[in-house]
Amino acid sequence: MTSPHAIEAENLVKHFGETVAVDGVSFVVPEGSVLGLLGPNGAGKTTTVRMMTTLTAPTSGTARVAGHDVLTDPGAVRRSMGLTGQAATVDELLTGRENLRLIGQLYGLDNGYIKRASDDLLERFSLTDAGDRIAKTYSGGMRRRLDLAVSLIATPPVLFLDEPTTGLDPRSRVELWEVLRELVKDGTTLLLTTQYLEEADQLADNIVVIDRGTVIAEGTPLQLKDQSGAAALVVTVSHGHDLERAEALIRPHVREVHVDAGARQLTAPAEGLGHMTRVAGLFDESGIVLDDIGLKRPSLDDVFLHLTGHRAEDTTTEADEELVS
Ligand SMILES: Nc1ncnc2c1ncn2[C@@H]1O[C@H](COP(=O)(O)OP(=O)(O)OP(=O)(O)O)[C@@H](O)[C@H]1O
Ligand SMILES: [Mg+2]
Repeated sequence: MTSPHAIEAENLVKHFGETVAVDGVSFVVPEGSVLGLLGPNGAGKTTTVRMMTTLTAPTSGTARVAGHDVLTDPGAVRRSMGLTGQAATVDELLTGRENLRLIGQLYGLDNGYIKRASDDLLERFSLTDAGDRIAKTYSGGMRRRLDLAVSLIATPPVLFLDEPTTGLDPRSRVELWEVLRELVKDGTTLLLTTQYLEEADQLADNIVVIDRGTVIAEGTPLQLKDQSGAAALVVTVSHGHDLERAEALIRPHVREVHVDAGARQLTAPAEGLGHMTRVAGLFDESGIVLDDIGLKRPSLDDVFLHLTGHRAEDTTTEADEELVS
């Protein structure tokens, strides 16, 4: 069974002088699914998106969007997709509503439709009250939301979002995820780049991890978590109960044990549910009371560290609307 691919990247390469920004990136995105292109600063995410959206020509390789080749049929590619770039592109001297109308007209949509779609989008992005103010007066987060609204006016079947939630406060981020989930439910194919492991985990069906211009891993969020090794058995000992005694009790029954005195936690390699139940039984018999016992899967952060040997840089976790300018 072959599902049609809405996006295909085929050995994309991009050189800027001596710099190899993208070094042979290939992947496919099945129709109606979400691909998270995950990587740290400078990994080549934006350059990859720019090649796939006809904004820059590949040094070699090619890509197809909705079956159209970016090299031989760039016009058809552009008609099939929407893009929200990393930098805000709204016209500051127009109101939110006028920005939407301008792009709607460029797509040849009729005015009645534009009006209805604009109302809906302004509402969805919590911009109804600000819709008739010029965008210059918007905060960074509001501009970001307007940017996204604008890229949705023509309801393109394929949507590229380059770090869509950078600069948004946590609440706006969660709201945007909801909007994106709705779009995907209605059949839109989505490619989003992100440095937020959590975001990829939340939204993506598949994740491609790139580092220094090459794909270093790909799979479902679950598969990537599995790749970075086994889950851990984590035991939290109640206050007033002896952590050292707890450690001595568990030690003969696990391969190794790590003690975190501050968190009152013992961590050991997980060996399945049966093993966890036996360990819980030991504590029961000993009279040492636990606050918690459970199995913890590695986070995508752990996965990234495991794959690259360095942490994913994430400089924008603070809720700071002023970050985007
Ligand atoms: N127009 C350009 N001229 C020269 N070098 C460039 C250009 N665009 C990107 N680069 C370089 O290519 C590499 C990849 O950059 P790119 O912007 O694609 O990374 P990114 O993954 O989007 O990073 P970020 O998370 O910071 O947005 C970087 O080393 C960057 O400096
Ligand atoms: Mg970028």
